[in-house]
Amino acid sequence: MSSPLPRHVAIVMDGNGRWARARGGMRADGHRAGVSPVRMVIEECVRHAIGALTLFAFSSENWRRPRDEVMSLMSLFVESLEAEIEELHRRGVRVRFIGEREELDARLKASMASSEQITAANTRLSLQIALSYGGRSDIVHAARRLALQVERHQLSAAQLDEPTFGAALALGDVCDPDLFIRTGGEQRISNFLLWNLAYTELYFTDRLWPDFDAPAFEAALQHYAARQRRFGLSAEQLQAADAGAS
Ligand code: FPP
Repeated sequence: MSSPLPRHVAIVMDGNGRWARARGGMRADGHRAGVSPVRMVIEECVRHAIGALTLFAFSSENWRRPRDEVMSLMSLFVESLEAEIEELHRRGVRVRFIGEREELDARLKASMASSEQITAANTRLSLQIALSYGGRSDIVHAARRLALQVERHQLSAAQLDEPTFGAALALGDVCDPDLFIRTGGEQRISNFLLWNLAYTELYFTDRLWPDFDAPAFEAALQHYAARQRRFGLSAEQLQAADAGAS
C-alpha cells in the first residue's frame, strides 16, 4: 500500500509577494518569477511519470487583493498560457482548469478553453490549474448538481455515497492527491481541495515559491516516499497487505 512516488501532487504556490518585496520589487515581479518553478514541476512530474499535478494559481479569496495585482496576475496567466501551450502539448500534458470562470476576462477564458481543447487527448500528465477556485464552493456546487439529479428522479438519496459525491466534484475523474506541497512557510490548506485532501500526505516548506527548484521538489518526493500511509489501518495490517502483494 505504500508507494515511493505519488500518483497525484497538489501544490499551493505561496510566497511570491514576499520574494519580490525582499528584493525591493513589486508583488507582480514575484508572480512573474513564479512561472519558472511551475515549468520545473511540470517537467519533473513528466520525468518521474507522476500522472497528475494540480496547482493552486488563484483562489476565490484572491479576488480581494488590490486591483492592480489581480490584473497583473490575470495578464500573466494569459501570457504564460499562450507562450507555453504548444510545448505542453508536445510533452503530452493535458491541461484543464478548475474553479469559477464567469468572472475571468474574455481573453483568459478563450485561452483556457483553447488550451483544454488542444490538449484534451494527451495522457502523459494531467495538469489541473485551479483558477478562481475554492474548496467549499466546489463542494457546494457538487451538492447542488446532485440535488438537481435527486429532484429530477435521476438519483435517489440512498444512492448518494462517497464515490458518487466525489465524482461530482471538480476533480471527479482524477485520483485524490497523494502529496500536498505548500511553499512559503504557512501550514494551512487555505480552502484548496478540501474533500480530495482527506488522506493526503502534507508537506510544508519555508522556501518561497520562486525559489522552489528541482532539488526542493525532490526533497518533497523523498519526504513522501518515507511516509507510511495507513488509510485508517494498523501498521500490522499494512505489513500483511504489503507481504501479500509482493
Ligand atoms: C501566492 O503567493 C501566489 C499566488 C496568488 C499566485 C500564484 C501564481 C503563480 C505562481 C504564477 C504562475 C502561475 C501559472 C499557473 C502560470 P503570495 O502572493 O500570496 O505570496 P506572499 O504570501 O508572499 O504574499
